[in-house]
Amino acid sequence: MSGKTRRKLWSGRFSGETDRLVELFTASLPFDARLFDCDIEGSIAHCRMLGRQGLVPPDDAARIIEALGEIREEIRAGTFRFVPSDEDIHMAIERGLIERIGPAGGKIHTGRSRNDQVSTDMRLYLRERIGDILDLVAGLQRTFVAVAKREIDTILPGYTHLQKAQPVLLAHYLLAFREMLERDAQRLGECLERVNVMPLGSAALAGTSLPLDRKYTAKLLGFRAVTANSMDAVSDRDFVAEFVFDASLLMMHLSRFCEDLILWSSGEFGFVEIADAYTTGSSIMPQKKNPDVAELIRGKTGRVYGNLVRILTVLKGLPMTYNRDLQEDKEPLFDTVDTVKASLMVLIGMVGNLSFNRQRMAEEAAKGFSTATDVAEYLVTKGVPFREAHGIVGRLVAYCISRKKDLADISLREFRKFYTGFDDGVYAVIPVTKAVNARGTLGGTAKKEVLRQIERAEKSARVAGRGEKGKR
Ligand code: ARG
Repeated sequence: MSGKTRRKLWSGRFSGETDRLVELFTASLPFDARLFDCDIEGSIAHCRMLGRQGLVPPDDAARIIEALGEIREEIRAGTFRFVPSDEDIHMAIERGLIERIGPAGGKIHTGRSRNDQVSTDMRLYLRERIGDILDLVAGLQRTFVAVAKREIDTILPGYTHLQKAQPVLLAHYLLAFREMLERDAQRLGECLERVNVMPLGSAALAGTSLPLDRKYTAKLLGFRAVTANSMDAVSDRDFVAEFVFDASLLMMHLSRFCEDLILWSSGEFGFVEIADAYTTGSSIMPQKKNPDVAELIRGKTGRVYGNLVRILTVLKGLPMTYNRDLQEDKEPLFDTVDTVKASLMVLIGMVGNLSFNRQRMAEEAAKGFSTATDVAEYLVTKGVPFREAHGIVGRLVAYCISRKKDLADISLREFRKFYTGFDDGVYAVIPVTKAVNARGTLGGTAKKEVLRQIERAEKSARVAGRGEKGKR
């Protein structure tokens, strides 16, 4: 390796060379190379501002901008030559620039430090990725709504404590996840507001003596504001932690849905079949069809939680302002972005291709005295205090269990042994579909309420669709 390729852009005050192991240990290039586009975008805007402020002569600014564009193309095409002394993507691009146009290339780093540069790059990067994730979340929401519409009459046993509780519409269940995703999208949208603020021009930590126009650079880069305090700007990674937290909640929601799918696709439940394209076989048991995709989403949720703990732990003991520890912000962020995007993409396909066993779900929903509450509420309409009604129906259920009967099989005479006020009307509240459609409270599972939820979801999807485009 020649001495030349090992010279650093910062090596003025050094007389010895960096140990090769140290180079490898400190390098972030292997993982921050993905910031190259954002880094070049930031540098081009910074250079335009420097030119406008008379800090870089117009000719030099033009050459720098042109060369940066060429470097961007080379990195995209995979032809850019990285050298072993390239510590990170920022240094690699600046070195490439100086090699290409000579010492004038060194003017790009006027009035900035890698400390403000790297935070700017991360924000530019995350801004785009939040946009991608919001689009995917909207896609999954639309899928849930579409399946809910298709399954509008499908009954599902609803559970609490994983014990059969009350029958619901499958559509109601699916729309519950649409709601969770809506809050996830809101959180990410709020996070985006804080991400979309520009640290560039904070320099190393204190600002610069050179007359930068930070607001102009921010305008060029589409940032909604500039950071107000240079020390905060270079040490802040709140926005990374916040994003990873929002992503953790999102993954938690996906994981809970996947857990239900895993249970429901088992022979014991038999409620749903996951399409072949989204399942895998066993290497030894020929009969198996496993819900690995759902399991991996559940497993990868743990991975994203791990990333949250990583970033929070990196930040907790840092003295002000920039410390190299902050380089450890990247992998948790990138891994979270990749994991969330992949999980959403695969889930959209899987949800759209589920086949539900409607008959089995309806049969199961009717078992286990799932409409006992309806009998109690029927007694309430007869003036019985709810607590007493609860006791009466509880004794009735115990009686049914001892006789191996369902509530619907009990004669009126038997009903009257428990409460004399029972009449024929009780038989009307016992069937599952009746019970479902009786739950007409706002947000309840009655079909008319669920149809309203669908309508509301479709309306808000249309509004969000316009908003998304407007924003970008
Ligand atoms: N690769 C570094 C990072 O990701 C860039 C900033 C380095 N700054 C410094 N003063 N050493 O954080």
